[in-house]
Amino acid sequence: MEKTFVMLKPDAVQRGLVGEITSRFERKGLRLAGAKMIWLKDSQLDEHYSQYLGKEFFPRLKEFMGACPVLAMVWEGKDAVKVVRTLCGLTNGREALPGTIRGDYGMSLQCNLVHASDSLQTAEREISRFFAKEELFAYGDALSEYRYAKDER
Ligand code: CDP
Ligand code: MG
Repeated sequence: MEKTFVMLKPDAVQRGLVGEITSRFERKGLRLAGAKMIWLKDSQLDEHYSQYLGKEFFPRLKEFMGACPVLAMVWEGKDAVKVVRTLCGLTNGREALPGTIRGDYGMSLQCNLVHASDSLQTAEREISRFFAKEELFAYGDALSEYRYAKDER
């Protein structure tokens, strides 16, 4: 099954929304393959946001993301990358639709609670950046036949 990388950002941790946000992924039927709290180092932030190096928001984004620990997770499921992006909603919390995480909990472009990989390729790169192989778990899904049709599993 497809895996995607998710990070609950400092605003989610500080505002006590870790449980609420995580429960949305669980309720959807995604499966948790790994999770850990990390305090992102300067070099990790540079790497994670390298595509935005030189943008005017880069320094403040780094300061925000490094201000307190984040919860890094790997979620698994059919089309997990796309499904998780849909659950998160548009980048700007003021534009994200109600029913999405960013739409329901935030008012900010920067402080938008959650990071989620934007493609399969990005997901693979981000998962291997933040998780060692032994930190990811494969375990049986007792409810698989109720989550997916035979040809979807
Ligand atoms: O997170 P997402 O993939 O939806 O958005 P992005 O365009 O890849 O930007 C990464 C993150 O940078 C966003 O989630 C925001 O937290 C932040 N950002 C910002 O603070 N100011 C901007 N003008 C654009 C993005
Ligand atoms: Mg992005």
